[in-house]
Amino acid sequence: MVILSKGDHVWLEPETKGEFNVAIGGRVKFTQSGKIQVIDDDGKEVWLDGKTQIKHMHPTSVEGIEDMIGLGDLNEAGILRNLFTRYMENLIYTFTGSILVAVNPYQVLPIYTSEQIKLYSDRKIGELPPHVFAIADNSYYNMKRYRHDQCIIISGESGAGKTESTKLILQFLAAVSGHHSWIAQQILEANPIMEAFEMPRPLEMTILVDLKSRIVNQAHDERNYHIFYCMLAGLSADERKQLDLKDATHYYYLTQGGDINVEQRDGGKEFADIRSAMKVLTFSDAEKSGKYSKFCLFYFILEI
Ligand SMILES: Nc1ncnc2c1ncn2[C@@H]1O[C@H](COP(=O)(O)OP(=O)(O)OP(=O)(O)O)[C@@H](O)[C@H]1O
Ligand SMILES: [Mg+2]
Repeated sequence: MVILSKGDHVWLEPETKGEFNVAIGGRVKFTQSGKIQVIDDDGKEVWLDGKTQIKHMHPTSVEGIEDMIGLGDLNEAGILRNLFTRYMENLIYTFTGSILVAVNPYQVLPIYTSEQIKLYSDRKIGELPPHVFAIADNSYYNMKRYRHDQCIIISGESGAGKTESTKLILQFLAAVSGHHSWIAQQILEANPIMEAFEMPRPLEMTILVDLKSRIVNQAHDERNYHIFYCMLAGLSADERKQLDLKDATHYYYLTQGGDINVEQRDGGKEFADIRSAMKVLTFSDAEKSGKYSKFCLFYFILEI
């Protein structure tokens, strides 16, 4: 039996069991002679009868915590509520040990300034509040300290913020490695290449599409991956001939969405940028030109 007083935080078990149903938090608003009223995290008033399963909430869940390893209620509900309460305060980053969880804020937050870069530079992970810069800093200094290549794995569903996070990490690395250095230039040149392989998003998050199916299926008004259009617009006539490629209108996978043009985008110019970025990033000439092995791959996809 749970004895509750006004102001207590509790977990309310979901009424029905299901894969996505987890307990949510609530706060006791009123108790009197066996009657208990709770306001849940969604702001809903719930009257508890004897049947509703409730549990006291651990203080770490009440206050929220920067590193979820320390959560007293270490379960799915605890993790989700922690992320939710932090998100409501615009705290989009949370650690779980050395893993950083980022919740997409869908707004520009003032947390990526050069002051923040300086602040996070050369710190131990966990010394400062969770931030994508803390991860970038950790990799950079581990690379310098141990002279070992480092790798940051960024995972999440479409629209979660993987590309934005990658750009922020690159921004951090470019800044700490010295503004005019060759490395900084290489880092920044990664952007056009990343953008070319970006998922086109004209309908901005209104549809969730399996990434693998994106190459062969597009909805109305959608384009395929940008690199296809760039490549076809930017290869010289000779190169196109060498690869036996035709223009974009010839390929069903590029035109099934309807329009192959995107306003204010010059595929030919972008392809030139991609090529020069590949040069700065020292993609070998054999890869970049000659047999165009990377581009040959796209060619085969188009010909499927
Ligand atoms: N840290 C952030 N701050 C502000 N806005 C963000 C942040 N992360 C993501 N966003 C917003 O969310 C949008 C989608 O993010 P992003 O393009 O990084 O997703 P993604 O995970 O790369 O998706 P996909 O798998 O489809 O490529 C961005 O265009 C941006 O508007
Ligand atoms: Mg992306």
